[in-house]
Amino acid sequence: MTIRIQNEDFDAEALAAIGIILQQGEAETLPLDPLRGDTRDFCRRVAVNEKFKAEAGSTLVIPVAEKNVRCVVLSGTGNEEESTLDALREASFRIARAAAGKGLPSLSITMADASDESRSRAVAEGASLASYRFDKYIKKDEKDKFAPVEDIVIAGGSEKGAALGAAMAEAQMWARDLANEPGNVITPVAFAERAKALAEELGIDCEIWDEKRIEEERMGAYYAVGKGSANPPRFVRLTYAPKDGAKGHIVLVGKGLTFDSGGLDIKPAEYMLTMKGDKSGACAVLGAMRAIVKLALPWKVSAIVAAAENMPGGSSYRPDDIVRARNGKTIEVFNTDCEGRMTLADALSYASELKPDMIVDIATLTGACAVALGSTSAGLFTNDEEFGGKVLGAAKACGERMWKLPMDDPNLRKLLKSPVADLVNGAGRYGGAITAAMFLEEFVEKGIPWAHIDMAAVDFVKSPYSYYVKGESGYGARTLAELVAEL
Ligand code: BES
Ligand code: MN
Ligand code: ZN
Repeated sequence: MTIRIQNEDFDAEALAAIGIILQQGEAETLPLDPLRGDTRDFCRRVAVNEKFKAEAGSTLVIPVAEKNVRCVVLSGTGNEEESTLDALREASFRIARAAAGKGLPSLSITMADASDESRSRAVAEGASLASYRFDKYIKKDEKDKFAPVEDIVIAGGSEKGAALGAAMAEAQMWARDLANEPGNVITPVAFAERAKALAEELGIDCEIWDEKRIEEERMGAYYAVGKGSANPPRFVRLTYAPKDGAKGHIVLVGKGLTFDSGGLDIKPAEYMLTMKGDKSGACAVLGAMRAIVKLALPWKVSAIVAAAENMPGGSSYRPDDIVRARNGKTIEVFNTDCEGRMTLADALSYASELKPDMIVDIATLTGACAVALGSTSAGLFTNDEEFGGKVLGAAKACGERMWKLPMDDPNLRKLLKSPVADLVNGAGRYGGAITAAMFLEEFVEKGIPWAHIDMAAVDFVKSPYSYYVKGESGYGARTLAELVAEL
């Protein structure tokens, strides 16, 4: 699929579909700009008959037959207040999806102020995301029922905005493809191979440690989680250094549980489903690397994933076990299903040793975060208000919902105390997302600005909404790339 720019007076009728993004108004007065002559009169009459007012989330598909044009799609963004950049993303997604649904190969999209970079970018993102499907395990004739639009033109758009949007959407879809792969395909070893292939494609450094090395490197918490599975763990680090010197160094850490059964504290069946998505943080980090390298952003960026599979077995770690993390702290195992923080503890200790300017981690960490915020917003935790604010700002610019949760309650922090070790790996249900974040903070060296994104349940879309189809969302890839772009 390609997205290109044409000036406003190009012949929209040369393409198979015409999409128009509209702010709310009366059907009689909606600006149907690219339409001409009879087609314009006809579409106006249909809009009036259908009482189409371009309300938020509304779409009107009008079949026409003029030159190459087979249909016109009107897509509303609502009133001025509702017409955010994210509403543009959604509107262009709906247009491209409608055109694809009719099997049309080409499409133009017209909107007001198209030359604005961020508007073009949003439209490019929405239209690109409309091409997404995870169909590699489906029969060819089933696959062929959905063909994304191949050629999309943004009329009067910004070249830079469209290119940025396409790169961002590509990063998200790459993350999504990897996250959608099941646990039998993406084991920790397979994950590391994908990361290596990505590094080769991007021309950046890649280092991979096997289970023996992980143990030798004193990553006792991470090692404990990995050893219960027949699929051994792999520690992955990708490093991108910009050609002309870097403004600084940021480390992105992603939770990479290729499958989370809960371990000996095994999950009930209904909670184990979707746990192939427990590697979504890791996928987001790798996806972000794609955009960061392709856009040649001026920061040194390290991506770190402590990939493992959490399984019950004869060599699993146990409740009551005491292990020692890389930074020397001992951890009492309260629950083997609190495995994410065990793997992240060592990944964050390692990240701190790199003495970066800042660290962000992203993880499907706690069901408690999903209970607090729902499955369409991630939680943000930070030890540095200014840096945390930048992460929230990047998320907002991308239309990825994120809400800050507090870390200042000493009463919750006390729950991490153990009578037999420095820390306990779980502290029960109340405030579970916060105590998990506080646990992670114990492994970040003091003084390094750090932000933690808990994206539990946001990774998986149960029923389609906005510009998401069912399945893994690819959440976080765009926000992380945006963060680095804005630093
Ligand atoms: N991977 C899960 C968290 C999760 C839950 C992600 C739902 C996506 C959707 C994590 O490893 C986990 O199992 N957390 C437990 C912790 C509990 C045992 C204290 C949880 O949240 O239930
Ligand atoms: Mn778990
Ligand atoms: Zn998990």
